[in-house]
Amino acid sequence: MSVTDTAPSPLVVTAPPERFFGYYPGTVAVVTAAHGGDRNVMSAGWHAALSADPPLYGVAFGRERYTYGLVRASNAFAVHFLPFERADAIAGAGSLSRHDGVDKFERLGLATSTGRVLDVPILHDAYLAYECRVDAVHTTGDHDFVVGSVVAVHHRPDAFDERRLQDGARVPGVVYYGRSTFEALGSGARGEFTPERYRERKPV
Ligand SMILES: Cc1cc2nc3c(=O)[nH]c(=O)nc-3n(C[C@H](O)[C@H](O)[C@H](O)COP(=O)(O)O)c2cc1C
Repeated sequence: MSVTDTAPSPLVVTAPPERFFGYYPGTVAVVTAAHGGDRNVMSAGWHAALSADPPLYGVAFGRERYTYGLVRASNAFAVHFLPFERADAIAGAGSLSRHDGVDKFERLGLATSTGRVLDVPILHDAYLAYECRVDAVHTTGDHDFVVGSVVAVHHRPDAFDERRLQDGARVPGVVYYGRSTFEALGSGARGEFTPERYRERKPV
């Protein structure tokens, strides 16, 4: 018997995928891409920094996402982080699909500019955004994990302090708990943005 096996585990064991999403809360990124006059935006909870030098950032895309088609066609995407005030847009970009013909930029009130280096929409509401050129694609189960080389970084200067830490008092970050529930870091304010809210075309 190992020295750690002195008492029964207090943890309850289940067979995956049950309880798989218990790893939340976490930050949900908002990803844009464009190709051939078309463009789109979606949410992605599965994203990660992968390397500092060179700077690499990865996003897991469901292969059926409309956005993913634009990423593969253009070899480019942009990753954004939005403040709690735009949790409605984070949820909406992940609840609506361009496959249904919706212009999510217009529907969610997302103003954009074209990227500095790449032809990707940059969301004005972001406090941080990366322009990414596709570096590699790895199939990971029911998603494709796309590794992007970060070629430009956009940020809101007032969102960060002199140590380059996010200033949560001025620009609260947002964490996602699952089940359409978002929380403002710091204040603990919560908002619930269910998919029905968007599908019924209620004001967002
Ligand atoms: C909170 C949240 C997180 C999500 N994370 C991911 C993700 O990491 N990868 C993914 O492919 N889809 C993710 N989705 C689902 C897509 O955002 C959703 O299917 C969206 O409608 C795709 O839009 P599109 O078809 O217009 O590209 C997430 C949705 C939500 C609400």
